[in-house]
Amino acid sequence: MKTKSDKIGRNSLCPCGSGLKYKKCCASKGVSSLPVLKSEYSRKYKIRFKSPEDVEGIRKAGRIALDALDLAESMIRPGISTNDIDAALHEFTIKNKAIPAPLHYRGYPKSVCISVNEVICHGIPDERILKDGDIVNVDVTPILNGYYADANKTFFSGTPGPDAVKIVSVTLECLREGIRMVKPGNTTGDIGWAIQQYAEGQGCSVVREFVGHGVGFEFHEPPQILHYGRRGDGFLLLPGMVFTIEPMINLGARFLHVLDDKWTAVTNDGSLSAQFEQTLLVTEDGCESLTPF
Ligand code: MF3
Ligand code: CO
Ligand code: CO
Repeated sequence: MKTKSDKIGRNSLCPCGSGLKYKKCCASKGVSSLPVLKSEYSRKYKIRFKSPEDVEGIRKAGRIALDALDLAESMIRPGISTNDIDAALHEFTIKNKAIPAPLHYRGYPKSVCISVNEVICHGIPDERILKDGDIVNVDVTPILNGYYADANKTFFSGTPGPDAVKIVSVTLECLREGIRMVKPGNTTGDIGWAIQQYAEGQGCSVVREFVGHGVGFEFHEPPQILHYGRRGDGFLLLPGMVFTIEPMINLGARFLHVLDDKWTAVTNDGSLSAQFEQTLLVTEDGCESLTPF
């Protein structure tokens, strides 16, 4: 989804209304501030916390997402069209009593996104035939019993060259670095900071126009999860939050444009771009992936 910036973190005013910085107030008082924070985050920022029943629903949708990605992986090879992958994943999703969320979402015409090489995200499946050495991101979002799970992976078609291997491995590591930051007390900014540190340390760049997002009851909920930023910025992570982390990392510069189809985002410099995405739950003591890989 698209960016906008949000604020509230350890240096923000405490939501309890004391007028102190959060870190000097409720943050230092421990667990008793949790109900205050949760109701404030719900009321002011429309963050929808998930119950254990909700989490189980999202986990089941997540199982379908992972199985769909496995099916995509089994099909990806030189000679197949992206339309064929879309059709197979559509059928798989329906057979599992789920609905592909992308289909007709804001006018999107297909059931999954397939983004090849310099395509950053939201590639529309079409007659394009995969070639040897392509990198192919497949992004799936099944809705099962009203619950959404969102996940994507980048695969190789045939034998990858060294640039392809590099951008895909750096991007997977970016997702892992982001996930490592997910625990109560850390902030959304800590996630972005960790991802940016790693990506730029490897000489790659972080796309800023698209972000992770709350997910579960809807496709895109608050909060936004930036894949770059500063430690302590953004929202505190609280148990029961469910959101995606989905870094898009470029081998060249971070700048992009969207094609005339109004969806396909590509790197300006034509460099390779990769992405990995999981749906994460903040638990009492860390996190659980609801789409684990
Ligand atoms: N699955 C994408 C995400 O991770 C959103 C795709 S929107 C679509 O947020 F319309 F292109 F499907
Ligand atoms: Co997403
Ligand atoms: Co997605």
